[in-house]
Amino acid sequence: MEKRSTVPAERRRGLASSLESHQVARMAHSVEEHFKFKLAEYDRRIRTLVYQYDAMRSVQLDILARCLPTTGGLVLDLGGGTGSLAAAVAERFPTTRVQIHDTDPGMLAFARERCSVFGDRVDFIDKSFAEPLPACDAVVACIALHHVKNMPAKGRIYRNIFAALRPGGVFANADTLMDSRPREREHYFAVWRRWMQARGHTEAEARQHHANWAEEDYYPPLSTELRLLGEAGFAEPDCFWRDEHQAVFGGIK
Ligand SMILES: C[S@@+](CC[C@H](N)C(=O)[O-])C[C@H]1O[C@@H](n2cnc3c(N)ncnc32)[C@H](O)[C@@H]1O
Repeated sequence: MEKRSTVPAERRRGLASSLESHQVARMAHSVEEHFKFKLAEYDRRIRTLVYQYDAMRSVQLDILARCLPTTGGLVLDLGGGTGSLAAAVAERFPTTRVQIHDTDPGMLAFARERCSVFGDRVDFIDKSFAEPLPACDAVVACIALHHVKNMPAKGRIYRNIFAALRPGGVFANADTLMDSRPREREHYFAVWRRWMQARGHTEAEARQHHANWAEEDYYPPLSTELRLLGEAGFAEPDCFWRDEHQAVFGGIK
């Protein structure tokens, strides 16, 4: 079993925890109202912080449409904490089941509230995405696997994903890619800061977010991701879509 580092749970929640910290003062009285508030706030703020969040989502859904069976099927959402991607999958594919794998009980509670409308079609699994996965038709993740800073460990996760997929099944990971060359990196981070600034953050705040996330996230170059995917068994690892530093990549088994 992968142990995820000594970073405290509060920090591990990364982006999500930085989003939640803005919400505490205005917390509503009932749990239900509290979650409704958090969901609305999360959904708004995530789009101010993550470059091309919506674009990645629609690419993932379109890839699933190509690869899922016409009815039924099981999709795993790794690190799906907030349930945002799982809900989008359950809504677009009304007979498909979705399992969210996450280690943070608070995030799973968050997802449970969001996905309650889908009844038992969405399951909430309190388990690390580094552990072996059940047989499935597709695996997705959104801004979650960048928490794995150790590349051999990420390679093992990709091997588990490949093993879990049925032939023809797809892995589509929406995440950030970075370049190891300083000039390219600076370009990508500048683009990203401008995205945040256009959505209400000051430049200083954008720089601070990047500094905070650097403690717990690692964004490998595309070449590293494709190599790990190839070593995991994907014959033709692919970048399905990319805009600057943000991408949807993976492979079809
Ligand atoms: C930034 S959030 C992204 C949540 C969601 N995918 C979205 O797009 O809104 C990252 C999630 O990964 C989860 N996570 C981090 N390490 C994990 C691990 N080893 N196993 C399972 N989940 C993990 C965190 O708890 C958190 O819910």
